[in-house]
Amino acid sequence: MHNEDTTIKIVWQDWFEVGHPRIDAEHKTFFDIIKSIDNDVRNGASMMRILRTLNELKFYTEFHFTSEENLMEDVGYPHFRAHRDGHKIILREMNDYITDIRLGIDRIDELVTFLFNWFCSHTVNEDTKFSRYVTLGSSGH
Ligand SMILES: [Fe+2]
Repeated sequence: MHNEDTTIKIVWQDWFEVGHPRIDAEHKTFFDIIKSIDNDVRNGASMMRILRTLNELKFYTEFHFTSEENLMEDVGYPHFRAHRDGHKIILREMNDYITDIRLGIDRIDELVTFLFNWFCSHTVNEDTKFSRYVTLGSSGH
């Protein structure tokens, strides 16, 4: 059976914005990387090229999470630990996908869907909470 019905459209939406300029800028880059993996898969790019982009994804996700965690620590964000634990779980899952793909297991579509779904739920829920905290928390200083 063809899985074209389950194909998701990787398109940036305004509601993805969390209202924190630095985080939003990083999210857009992160989103671009997901999009280029998706494009590569659709255009039948070589596995070597896909693996190169997956490497970029891995490093950028690590960077973005570290960046977000630093911002949270800076302002004493009360949900810092829970958010950081969430990052760890995502990274582990993402790395499992990448390891499998490197071994030749065809999980790339699954990975793209996973990343996109995670991005949509994580950004709206968790990062928006933090952005609101920064806005409200810094208003009194
Ligand atoms: Fe984020």
